[in-house]
Amino acid sequence: MTDLLVSLAPIGGVLPFLAALLVTWRHLHPASFWLGVGYPLRAARVYLTWGNVAAGCGLSTKRRRIRWTLDGITALDLLTKGREDKRRIRRVQVDKAPGLGLVLPLRHGFKLWVRLPDGQTPDHYTAKLDHLGHAWRVHSVRVLRWKPGKVQLQATVYDPLTSVSASVVDQFLKVCVGRLETNAPWVIDFTTMPHWLITGATQSGKSTLINRLICGLAPQPLAIIGCDLKGGVELTPYEDRLTALATDRAQMTAVLNRLIDEIKRRMSTCRDHRVRNIWQLPEDAQPVPVIMFVDEVAELFLMADKSEKDEIAATATNLIRIAQLGRAFGVYLVICGQRVGSDLGPGVTALRAQLSGRVCHRVNDPETANMTLGDMDPAALNAARLIPAETPGLAVVTGADGRWYKARSEYVSEQQAEQAAVTYAHLRPTWADITTADVVPISDDEYNAYAA
Ligand SMILES: Nc1ncnc2c1ncn2[C@@H]1O[C@H](COP(=O)(O)OP(=O)(O)OP(=O)(O)O)[C@@H](O)[C@H]1O
Ligand SMILES: [Mg+2]
Repeated sequence: MTDLLVSLAPIGGVLPFLAALLVTWRHLHPASFWLGVGYPLRAARVYLTWGNVAAGCGLSTKRRRIRWTLDGITALDLLTKGREDKRRIRRVQVDKAPGLGLVLPLRHGFKLWVRLPDGQTPDHYTAKLDHLGHAWRVHSVRVLRWKPGKVQLQATVYDPLTSVSASVVDQFLKVCVGRLETNAPWVIDFTTMPHWLITGATQSGKSTLINRLICGLAPQPLAIIGCDLKGGVELTPYEDRLTALATDRAQMTAVLNRLIDEIKRRMSTCRDHRVRNIWQLPEDAQPVPVIMFVDEVAELFLMADKSEKDEIAATATNLIRIAQLGRAFGVYLVICGQRVGSDLGPGVTALRAQLSGRVCHRVNDPETANMTLGDMDPAALNAARLIPAETPGLAVVTGADGRWYKARSEYVSEQQAEQAAVTYAHLRPTWADITTADVVPISDDEYNAYAA
């Protein structure tokens, strides 16, 4: 016994040393630790357990196999009968796991192709992503893309959304507002998705996202217009960089009318130059793009008494018109609301249809989640319902590829956004800078025909 302990003593000394070495390596250089230790272990787990995991997730297929078997043969048979009799041929059903490609490392996880057995589609895997995540002991698994006959899965080992900082430098009309669950940057790109609907219960992170957008847009050569129907409490701090700020419905109607007038002028300019949008105009003729923020859109549709009905309908129609035509003529919308439901009026559903970019934070009522994401993948709706209250800023969003992702915005305080607005106040265009004054706008009839 003593001899054994003596012979094990060097190992006892080496193990703590090795453990300390690994912990230090992981701490000092997590990227190389992941490639050298974490990833090979994860890849080995995926390959070694794939048969069981695929069977457990119902992804295996049943194959008929011919098996030699000794079933049903007694010991006496073994002793007395000939060799051939001892073997019986049986047809058995065995599980066959789908074929796996190489497990390739990513910065925060890994990806791999799976060959789809006959009869399976990528949807079979989409339905089992949670099961795969638990089996592989990773934070999340997603279907990354697919080709005929195969699907690529991406696993993220740790939650990249626990603390988020935007990592990509903003470009013209593109703001990196946070991170996607795949650890890719979350970019709100107005050139590909011109209008955005941002929903979320109180304290879910809507204003923080607006703060980030203000910080990103303030240094850019564009006009920002605010419509803050909460009486101006949210957007007034950024007034220095705002071309206009409307704090009630009447002011908002006036702003929308001016914008529609300007859209008509821009349409006229584009028609004269025989181009379809302002970006095809010669550079010196290109007008200033306008980004309009609307905070608490529900206030726009809420009616105190029947006399407001026409005003609401007119404002909603103008907003929908801007959404319809804005993309081509450089007017973009960011519309926020705690509660956005079809009960607010038919205008809401029509507006929603024009807002292709969606951000759904934690919501209290299923109707709002449904309104924001209901026309997308049902899995997106499920993911939004599961957003916990303790992670404000977490949201289900439309990515640049049109698919949905979980994402978290970078935390930007009101003071930071206000500071950005003050710093770039000199870049604030006036109405006169936005307006192409010398152009005769197209007629109402032409405008209505175009919008229809
Ligand atoms: N991305 C984020 N990361 C970390 N904390 C956040 C994030 N977004 C929001 N928070 C926290 O949540 C708080 C509430 O966020 P915010 O004011 O953006 O909510 P809101 O949706 O605008 O609420 P309301 O509807 O009441 O205006 C913030 O003060 C901040 O502490
Ligand atoms: Mg807010």
